[in-house]
Amino acid sequence: MKKFLRVFAGISALCVLSCTPKPSGNGGPVYLDTHADIEARIDDALSRMTLEEKIKIIHAQSKFSSAGVPRLGIPELWTTDGPHGIRTEVLWDEWEQAGWTNDSIVAFPALTALAATWDRDLSALYGKSIGEEARYREKDVLLGPGVNIYRTPLNGRNFEYMGEDPYLSGQMVVPYVQQVQKNGVAVCVKHFALNNEETFRHTTDVDLDDRALYEIYLPAFKAAVQQGGAWSIMGSYNLYRGQHVCYNQRLIMDILKGEWGFDGAVISDWGGVHETDAAVKNGLDLEFGTWTDGLTMGATNGYDAYFLAKPYRDGILSGKYGTEELDEKCRRVLRLIFRTAMNPDKPFGAINSEAHYAAARKIGAEGIVLLKNDNQVLPVAPGVKRILVVGENAVKMMTVGGGSSSLKVQHEISPLDGIRARAGKDIEVVYARGYVGDTGGSYNGVSSGQDLSESRTPEQLIAEAVELAGQSDLVIFIGGLNKSNNQDCEGTDRRSLDLPYDQDAVIEALAAANPNLVVSLVSGNAVAMPWVDKVPAILQTWYLGSEAGNALADVVFGDVNPSGKLPFTFPKQLTDSPAHQPGMTFPNRHKVVYEEGIFVGYRWFDEKDIEPLFAFGHGLSYTQFSYGEAKLDKSSMNENGTVRLTVKVTNTGDREGAEVVQLYIADKESSLPRPEKELKDFQKVLLAPGQSKDVTFTIGADALKFYDPALPGWKAEKGEFEALVGSASDDIRTRAAFTLK
Ligand code: BGC
Repeated sequence: MKKFLRVFAGISALCVLSCTPKPSGNGGPVYLDTHADIEARIDDALSRMTLEEKIKIIHAQSKFSSAGVPRLGIPELWTTDGPHGIRTEVLWDEWEQAGWTNDSIVAFPALTALAATWDRDLSALYGKSIGEEARYREKDVLLGPGVNIYRTPLNGRNFEYMGEDPYLSGQMVVPYVQQVQKNGVAVCVKHFALNNEETFRHTTDVDLDDRALYEIYLPAFKAAVQQGGAWSIMGSYNLYRGQHVCYNQRLIMDILKGEWGFDGAVISDWGGVHETDAAVKNGLDLEFGTWTDGLTMGATNGYDAYFLAKPYRDGILSGKYGTEELDEKCRRVLRLIFRTAMNPDKPFGAINSEAHYAAARKIGAEGIVLLKNDNQVLPVAPGVKRILVVGENAVKMMTVGGGSSSLKVQHEISPLDGIRARAGKDIEVVYARGYVGDTGGSYNGVSSGQDLSESRTPEQLIAEAVELAGQSDLVIFIGGLNKSNNQDCEGTDRRSLDLPYDQDAVIEALAAANPNLVVSLVSGNAVAMPWVDKVPAILQTWYLGSEAGNALADVVFGDVNPSGKLPFTFPKQLTDSPAHQPGMTFPNRHKVVYEEGIFVGYRWFDEKDIEPLFAFGHGLSYTQFSYGEAKLDKSSMNENGTVRLTVKVTNTGDREGAEVVQLYIADKESSLPRPEKELKDFQKVLLAPGQSKDVTFTIGADALKFYDPALPGWKAEKGEFEALVGSASDDIRTRAAFTLK
């Protein structure tokens, strides 16, 4: 019923606010939804709204909604987490779930997995699918996707982001944004910006040089805004140069709304607002989650105590604040409402559809990265009759936990179930626990319902696994991190790079017991692998959501040939990472200076000549690819021109497979230090055995530019450049030089 009321409210408001009906082919009115039309309606609405009504629409009225203007038929806005599925309904004023029985959904793979597909079309499929789920659940704003750059492997929230490279995350976020918004659901790109650690996220105060800001930390947000057309963005908890980012003069006013021309709404992260003055002046449009306890305790209406509620209204009435900023905030919030809640073209949406499960499984399988595969241990060979699966993560539900991205799913296929189902009758699958990690499994009242309690000692668990390993043809250890505190979890960071719960000992013991060992890691972060040389096959499988087990089985049994590539570097040890150099601290309660500057991720490993455990862009296949020579159509270009690079890629193995062909650019003469190479394009090509394809990249001046703080601005300097093409950042197969004239 609510759905129909909301549609009706939208239509009546459209009429009140004098939109322009045009005749449609079948006689009914069609409401124009052009930019100009929306702007006229905003003007009209604003001219009719009272001060009270204006104040009401710029702050929350419940945990996840903000008020509309009922008198004018303008509906309220409903937001939801994000970014991997649509969060369960919570109580009006509390985080606890509301106990609905119709809000179970599909969990899509975590954004790290999406990034690891290096496939723009799969990002579009993800956006379309999650957008439809949001629409069906009547949400107007999806709180995601997240594109904070992976600065350190200890950040508890890396699993919700798209890796260490600004170009890759920028390319992957745009289709997601566009497809979600086709559903009349706004994305809320988060967390803008520099939100790179969790422990002290409300007080961490980041400082960094402008090159790092513009070249590394902002490009994915800029792409989401300018190419994706994001309708809202979430201000992050942390501070930048002493001012909270939700209302940071430089980041919000000068860069986001100024330089980038963002016309959407800036929404605070939940509880990210701490004062009225700066929030009024520095571009915060919609305040959410401030730590009042809502309607249940204290004042008659806790939401009226929000910084953009009574204190703001009183300030306007006393003359402390003018109304210009208020009108600007309302304008942006109304624009968001017109684009979403009052969007006359929004579809109906769908949840738990076959298509959504298929999308989750496909994205999951394509995101899995085959890190190592000596002796072709994978895929499962025809002679294998008995598989031993070891490890808590083979059975543990991973869609519950981790913070605000926690979900209530209709189903979740565990790795063990996926492997068992695919193995069928001919292959026996045996399970051993191996280690005990986190036996809990609930978040805000959503419980996994699993009993993972275990009374045996670690020694007994290892002994059981080792004995069974000796009797099996193949052993698959499934471990990694999980979604509990100090693992991959919002609000906390990891304490070390090591695998927790002494999993290293289990892996070492299994490696000694059976040479056919696969280690399959569930995590959103890099982990140390002291056993790397003793284990022939390693898979990085992320958090894959509802279809996790099926997606894993697709790769393990070779139904899908792996093609995922790492979206971030795996260091051998923490001290190899740029954010963990002598003198640097982590986590940081107050000030943190990003001393590594632009040298983040592979840029750092290249610069310092440190060999990574597994490099950015690395990922193997069950087939092999050879690269021909890179050929340029000309040897020089001017600033408005382009050069075209073509390279022939051939599948030299005996299976169909996809290769992500990566283009990096190296600036050979530059007035400022530049990374040894930077990713500037990529293409994923599917090749049959023996097939070759010419892959062509068009290189324009944008790919050659760096941010020059002296200008300030982007510039490409004349001189020599090199185009490097390869299969990973540490596996460049061919290169060609050209000059910028
Ligand atoms: C998180 C956001 C989330 C919000 C609402 C905050 O704690 O940082 O990412 O969207 O809560 O749940």
